[in-house]
Amino acid sequence: MMADAQQKTPVTLATLQAMQQRGEKIACLTTYDASFTRVLEAAGVDMFIVGDSLGMVLMGYESTVPVTMDDMSHHAANVARVGRSAYRVVDLPYRSYETPAQALVNARRLVDEGGARMVKLEGGADRAAVVEHLVGHDIPVCGHIGLLPQSVEEYGGYRVQGRDAAGAAAILADAAALENAGAGMLVIECIPAALTARVTGSVSVPVIGIGAGPDCDGQVLVLYDMLGMTSDHQPRFVKDFLQENGSIRGAVAAYVTAVKDGSYPASEHSY
Ligand code: KIV
Repeated sequence: MMADAQQKTPVTLATLQAMQQRGEKIACLTTYDASFTRVLEAAGVDMFIVGDSLGMVLMGYESTVPVTMDDMSHHAANVARVGRSAYRVVDLPYRSYETPAQALVNARRLVDEGGARMVKLEGGADRAAVVEHLVGHDIPVCGHIGLLPQSVEEYGGYRVQGRDAAGAAAILADAAALENAGAGMLVIECIPAALTARVTGSVSVPVIGIGAGPDCDGQVLVLYDMLGMTSDHQPRFVKDFLQENGSIRGAVAAYVTAVKDGSYPASEHSY
């Protein structure tokens, strides 16, 4: 069974763009270690995010803020060692991309040590210079807009973003600024579904949603959330796929199917 994943052609950014063009949904999950990476690839996950959510689900921190470059590089390398087919995006952690020069040093480390094919960073227009610098040095970048977990202290909690006209306009402007700066993909987190449709329609790069409703090019969830392992009170958008499917392999396969056929996220998972 593992041989199947190993024989698959590696997914590239061009593959994901082609899926976007033909309207095939991109199924993405977070992963942080070798064993889950093998299971996810065998189930047909198109793209991994080695997310700084690892600080919360693996390391027990209250937020992603304490996560370091050493943490990210270590876990990204675990994934890259066995990853054969899925596209790998790795998070730049909090305060690792304050200036274009610092971002380049750290992004190169995630590529060289962690096998990242693309790096992800949080923020919009305020990060355009950093994105431009990385892309100008041949490092593909995924922007992350909407709810920014690294800024959760500023929000005073994990809250849906872009609910009012000013918030929605700022998110649309952020998406445009990131695309203009050269970002090759966007992750959009915890915004109303109607706003997601506007963002997805306003940019040409693939948009991957989490808690953002169905109208984007793909979906991502934190792996441990969709396995029902993280807390008794999950946010509305999280679905426990393990409960219905009985095994981790079954849960991941059901997630991939549900993303591809558009049954997840349903309206009850959207804002
Ligand atoms: O840190 C993370 O896991 C993420 C994804 C859920 C988008 O940023």
